[in-house]
This record gives sequence, C-alpha cells and structure tokens, in this order.
Amino acid sequence: MNCEYFGKCGSCTLGKMSYEEQLDFKIKREKERFGDIFDKTIDVIKSKDGAFRNRAEFRVFHKMGKISYAMSDINKKLLPIQNCSIVSDYISELMPKLLDEVSKNEILAKRFFSVEFLSSTTGDILVTMIYHKKLDDVWSEEAKKLQAKLNIKIIGRSRGQRVILSDDFINEKLYICVPTQESRNEFLVQYKEGGFTQPNQKVNIQMIEWVLNNIEAKDDLCELYCGGGNFTLPLSQKFDKVLATEISKTSIRSAKLNCELNDIKNIKFIRMSSEEFVEARNGVREFRRLQQEDVKLEDYNFSTIFVDPPRAGLDDTTTNLAKDFEQIIYISCNPETLHRDLIELTKTHTIKNFALFDQFAFSGHIECGVVLSVK
Ligand SMILES: C[S@@+](CC[C@H](N)C(=O)[O-])C[C@H]1O[C@@H](n2cnc3c(N)ncnc32)[C@H](O)[C@@H]1O
Repeated sequence: MNCEYFGKCGSCTLGKMSYEEQLDFKIKREKERFGDIFDKTIDVIKSKDGAFRNRAEFRVFHKMGKISYAMSDINKKLLPIQNCSIVSDYISELMPKLLDEVSKNEILAKRFFSVEFLSSTTGDILVTMIYHKKLDDVWSEEAKKLQAKLNIKIIGRSRGQRVILSDDFINEKLYICVPTQESRNEFLVQYKEGGFTQPNQKVNIQMIEWVLNNIEAKDDLCELYCGGGNFTLPLSQKFDKVLATEISKTSIRSAKLNCELNDIKNIKFIRMSSEEFVEARNGVREFRRLQQEDVKLEDYNFSTIFVDPPRAGLDDTTTNLAKDFEQIIYISCNPETLHRDLIELTKTHTIKNFALFDQFAFSGHIECGVVLSVK
C-alpha cells in the first residue's frame, strides 16, 4: 500500500516500510522483549495492508475559509490531509463527500473542530461531529439534511452537549468460525458511540477465533474489561456460565443489549471496575450491583479468567486475583505492560500459546494474546 502521507503522518510511524517489513520489525521487537519468558513459536495474525480501520478520528483544519481533514504529523504539528489509506472503504468514500457538503454550509462548517467515523462491515456509518460552539436547533436542522443526503447517522458534540440525530450506534454482524459443530457462528452486535470497539474488524474476528481455538473450555468463565461483549458472546458458547465486568456504563448497556439481540442466556454483565471485582471476590466489600443482578459469586465454578485491559495493563490486585484461576487468557494492546504482568503471572502459570495480532498496521503498536495454565 502507498499513502502520500507516509513519512509525515504521526499515526503511521512505520509507513515508510512495506507491510511485511513493518510486521517483521514488530515481530522481532516482541520476540526480543518476551524472549526471557517465552521461547516457543509465536502465532502471527496479519492485517490487510490498507483500508483496515473501521474507526478513525481526524482534526478539522480551517484556513482562509477552506476546511480539510488533518492529522498530527511526526512533530505533533497539524498536517492537512485529503484522504487516509488505512480507513475502511466506507469511511474513505464518505470523507470527501462529507467535507464537500460541510464546506458549502456555513452553519455546519463554523467552529467544526474534529470528526470521528465508525463503520460496520456492511456500511452502517456513524459520524460524530465535534464543535467548539453551542449546537442549536438551526445546526440540528442542517445536520439532519446532511444525514439524509449522505445516508449516515450523525451525532453532534460540543462541551456538555451530545445531540443524537437518529441512532447513537451502528449494527454489525460478526462471523466467527467456532471449532465445535453445534456452536453458532453469527453474532449481531451494536457498537455504541462512546463505548470501546476494536479498530480492525478483520483482525478482531481472528483474535476471537484464535482464543476459541487455543483455550481449554470448562466450568464457568470470569471476564474483566469486557467492553460491549466482543469476546464474551462467542466465548459464552464454550462455558457453562459467564460473569463479565467492565467499568464503562455505556459499554455494559451495549453488552446487555448485544446479549439480548443474540438470545444468549448464560452471561451476566455487571458494571464494576477490576479493582472493585477483586474486593467483591475477596469478600472485602459487598456490592448492591451484584445483588441487583442476582449474582452470588459462590454460585460460580470459575476455572478460567479472561482479561483485556487498557494500555496500563493489570493493577497488582487484579494480577493476584488472576493467579487463582487454572487458566488465564490475556489480550493486550501494550506489550510493555503485558511483559511486566507476565513476569508476575509466570511465577504460578506457564505460557501455552502466544500470538501477535497486527491490528494497528503501519503504526508501532501491536496487539498480543496469551493463554496461560497453572503450573
Ligand atoms: C481494550 S478494551 C477491551 C474491551 C473488549 N474486551 C473488546 O474486545 O471490545 C478495555 C476495556 O476496559 C475498560 N476499563 C478500563 N479501565 C477499567 C477498570 N479499571 N476496570 C474495568 N474495566 C476497565 C474500558 O472501558 C474498555 O472497555
């Protein structure tokens, strides 16, 4: 793939390399990093080399009455851009059309500061337009016309304001190849604006499949940092019961809805930070949120814990909690904190499988997956 902004754009910092070169660079870097705790084969899951991002954010750049999209460049200065080679075809096609319409409309253009796109694999698109001005009825009228013309969903945001013109979500279908014949392989999900979603859907699906193919599923599953249930729904097919927790209200709402959409009955989603869950599990504190959902921790026969924390990785109490489980599945978007946490977890557990998922192709980032079992 070639992008005219490679070498300048601060997002694709490895853009000057070919797809294979940047992947080899990251594989070598991670093999060196994890060499002290894992010396077996690392599975590598590749991305498409272009049009792979189903969500993207851009600044809006105003100059002499004209507007364009912009990214931060490698020196953190604004870099005006016309297009972006890594966003999905749906987003790519929409970007110039949106800008063209907004440029012709003073109400929509004035103080338009940044924009976020979220697209499904079937072309459902949510656009969040962020402003540095109060959004009034006149703005809503114009934005509704734009929404209808481009057949998209628009949300307007400004300080203390969130104006939803139709829906605040997109519909997506996940096709997962689950290893057991009886299991379903199609999941309907809604991705809500403001909730976490994985950025590279093709790699996301392969991450879910990798987990399903590499774990030993039995008894009940405990999941922390579950987001909108991205892993939870497919994994629930392999366990008796699942208890999944997450800090964000938006994500828990979407997880519950996604569960209903798929008529899955063996999952309980609870809004709880990982730190709170540790307190509940250790009997340090009682939580009304658990009682309200009719959850008694003693009713669960957990043997597996699944964690997918943010870049900071696990806090000490959550790491200690994980050590109580026979099997640990750890998905990480930050190899640095993953390595730190694995140093601790490998005191009690052995790494069985390790994978690199190239979710963030052409950037320095890479996602990892690890399955550990108790020694
Ligand atoms: C990397 S995302 C993973 C979400 C989900 N597994 C997925 O695949 O979409 C991390 C999630 O952890 C949640 N989170 C952040 N800090 C947390 C905490 N202290 N306790 C529980 N969840 C937290 C975030 O809201 C986010 O949904």
